Amino acid sequence: MEFVKYEVDGNIAMMTIDRPKALNALNKQVLTEINEVLDQVDPNTVRCMIVTGAGEKSFVAGADIGEMSVLDREGGVAWGKYGNDIFRKLETLPVPTIAAINGFALGGGCEIAMSCDIRICSDNAVFGQPEVGLGITPGFGGTQRLARIVGMGRAKEIIYTASNIKADEAYRIGLVNAVYPQAELLDAAKKLAGKIARNAPIAVRLSKKAINDGLQVDMDQAIVIEENAFGDCFATEDQKEGMSAFLEKRKEKNFQNK
Ligand code: CAA
Repeated sequence: MEFVKYEVDGNIAMMTIDRPKALNALNKQVLTEINEVLDQVDPNTVRCMIVTGAGEKSFVAGADIGEMSVLDREGGVAWGKYGNDIFRKLETLPVPTIAAINGFALGGGCEIAMSCDIRICSDNAVFGQPEVGLGITPGFGGTQRLARIVGMGRAKEIIYTASNIKADEAYRIGLVNAVYPQAELLDAAKKLAGKIARNAPIAVRLSKKAINDGLQVDMDQAIVIEENAFGDCFATEDQKEGMSAFLEKRKEKNFQNK
């Protein structure tokens, strides 16, 4: 792959978007390669995936404006669907994901970060949805996910004004969970991934699915989603291991992902 790197270290995977000449902007090839990486992520071995951008300046500076500039209506719908299908695949990936945002996260960059489960960023990170300044709406989920994460009022202000926000403001409004000095960001992401990976992977996966699916339906249906996820855990070996370890006062747990 030319623009997207995929590495697995133990049970932690890392996807790095690496297109330095365009600040890691998402052209069609980058999106296609992201899609190929997502198809490779194996929940039998990977317990958490970190998504980041190469270099120290940019996470992802958006969808590729040059490529989009020539689209007509039909092309716009198709391009939106192309990105949305891939970001939805990322959002529903059966492993937890952490966006380690190392710089500009604009337009499609903010949108791919919002498709991850958890966002942390470096102190030089900049977030925004500049689309209306380009004469378009956000197209890879921004009109939907930003409001769900930071609330409708803030999302509308960010999108309507097309103004960027810095890391401290992103933290204040809950767009990111934590801010680190740039040099410490990846270690912090790996530490967080390691903390997740130590827990029972099936229980983590089912928690992700229950949270995601439950937010789409009313509370009566949502609670049934939880009951089923909870019940499914009792059919796993890892539930036996987790509870035996507690009852035997054993600190070390040997979760097998089974
Ligand atoms: N698409 C294509 N190329 C891009 C790009 C993008 N989104 N962002 C940056 N680049 C390119 C620049 O054209 C430039 O290329 P050249 O050297 O060949 O001219 C190179 O990356 C470096 O960028 P700058 O010289 O502009 O760097 P800077 O430090 O002066 O500014 C920046 C950095 C503020 C991020 C600026 O590049 C910028 O505003 N980029 C566009 C951000 C944007 O509007 N993103 C949203 C796109 S729309 C979208 O994403 C739609 C959607 O929802 C799907």
